[in-house]
Amino acid sequence: MTADDQKRAAGEAAAALVQPGMVVGLGTGSTAAWFVKALAARGLKDIVGVPTSVATADLATGLGLKIKQLDEVSTIDLTVDGADEVGPALSLIKGGGGALLREKLVWENSRRCVVIADAAKRVAMLGKFALPIEVVGFGHKSTMARICDVLAEFDIGMAPRLRSRDGAPVKTDSGNLIYDAACGRIEEPAALAAALKSVTGVVDHGLFLDLADMALVGTPDGVVTLEP
Ligand code: A5P
Repeated sequence: MTADDQKRAAGEAAAALVQPGMVVGLGTGSTAAWFVKALAARGLKDIVGVPTSVATADLATGLGLKIKQLDEVSTIDLTVDGADEVGPALSLIKGGGGALLREKLVWENSRRCVVIADAAKRVAMLGKFALPIEVVGFGHKSTMARICDVLAEFDIGMAPRLRSRDGAPVKTDSGNLIYDAACGRIEEPAALAAALKSVTGVVDHGLFLDLADMALVGTPDGVVTLEP
């Protein structure tokens, strides 16, 4: 069973959780795309999707799903999204696809959040996947220097790298930039999360802590359910 098969199985298992009439947060990335496809295939009545990125909005509308933006709904019943790492107590690193800010906004406004992943995403400690940190463009190099100071307090010495593609900085859907911090090991995720948020110029980061209510992880033996 390939990683993509596992992602698909997890996405399909999550789609089975959706009931008619629900408002559903739609995650971003290759695993979330399997969920969106499986959800559309169910043909449920009165489903409204709240996309976490322009890419997911395009995918969902292309499949015939009705979508609304976050501020157009009063509540989100269930959000389903992928992750780059799934650690202890369902602590997560997200943002490999650059959608971490909209994802976190949608997650924080959801009654229930389910993370879907392939088995390789499970880790004993967060940090091997470089932590995405979204910053405003203005003064981003000085913001990065402040981020380095914070990382040094946590014994993380590597300078974050500005995410770029084809020689140009990648801009998020909200027009910001992303620095990827190769942390190695994140021993105190909550403290690091708070410290990063305190830096002026940092919009958000990819640590999702105490947000996931359940994980559905595709494995060679089937989909495994995890709780915090
Ligand atoms: C998007 O910004 C991310 O948070 C994704 O959810 C995460 O990178 C997982 O992506 P894949 O499902 O493509 O591995």
